[in-house]
Amino acid sequence: MNKVTRGSLLGIEHLQAAEILGLLKLARRMNPRKPRPLLRGKRVLLLFYEPSTRTRSSFEVAAKSMGAMTTLVLSSGSSIEKGESLLDTAYTLRAVGADVIVIRHPHAGAPLLMAQHLDIPVVNAGDGMHEHPSQALLDAYTILRHKKTLKGLRVAIVGDIYHSRVARSGIHLLSKFGAHITLCGPPEFVPETAATLQPGLHISRTAEEALHGADVIMVLRVQKERLAGMKIKLQDYIARYQMTMARLKLAKRDALVMHPGPIIRGLELTWEVADCPQSAIVEEVANGVPVRMAILAEALGKAR
Ligand code: NCD
Repeated sequence: MNKVTRGSLLGIEHLQAAEILGLLKLARRMNPRKPRPLLRGKRVLLLFYEPSTRTRSSFEVAAKSMGAMTTLVLSSGSSIEKGESLLDTAYTLRAVGADVIVIRHPHAGAPLLMAQHLDIPVVNAGDGMHEHPSQALLDAYTILRHKKTLKGLRVAIVGDIYHSRVARSGIHLLSKFGAHITLCGPPEFVPETAATLQPGLHISRTAEEALHGADVIMVLRVQKERLAGMKIKLQDYIARYQMTMARLKLAKRDALVMHPGPIIRGLELTWEVADCPQSAIVEEVANGVPVRMAILAEALGKAR
């Protein structure tokens, strides 16, 4: 197997706790409003094979806040549509002068493959149903702005966990720091095998049980684009798992409501919950900028 360039961020699963803490600490020192030209002259290539609003814009703002140049390549309108392979696209972007590639791809492992064949760092901005490491980092960053520690924190993750790379990365990160995690949803979204992802995970089939005493509630979108062949009755899902104010009351009084976005109001959560004082949904997006600044600074060796 080829070596992956230092500074690449491909997932949370194989990171050491110290590396995660290092990135979070660095993110706390980043201020997008007070730009420091740490990355002046660097070229950040954003390669997005799937739709994105938050991740794409925050990586771009993060890069520009540090003086880097950014170029966005979308799969539609690029040579990818003409059938160019992932690696040929990677070699092309390297030849254009990319210093780092941030990639979102529908297939698990695409960022790793790219990283194994390039001599520049690769940052995973979400690969299929595998990982979304920058989201897990910004979620941890957000939680730690409200809670003293992740250790012993009761986290309920509710929704389409099976299809969610956000859940997978979040579970890996929170488990490394001793959070107690309950996965909640119907078997289509939370198969029994989900509990094997990390030791100590609990599965709950009722929202009421999962939310009881929770410190953090992570709500996930039903990923319709990944539901091929699966028949899920949305009305039943809403009746049993939608995050409502009544359900939220079962959690601790100061429980944090989180969601990686995009949120679908009226489906996985109500309008009231989305906008309630406990909701950190908009804050998560804002925190994505300093966290991605830290990721890019680390990738390009400018973190110290
Ligand atoms: C998520 C993703 O693309 O994995 N969004 C995000 O990056 N914040 C979650 C989703 O699409 O539901």
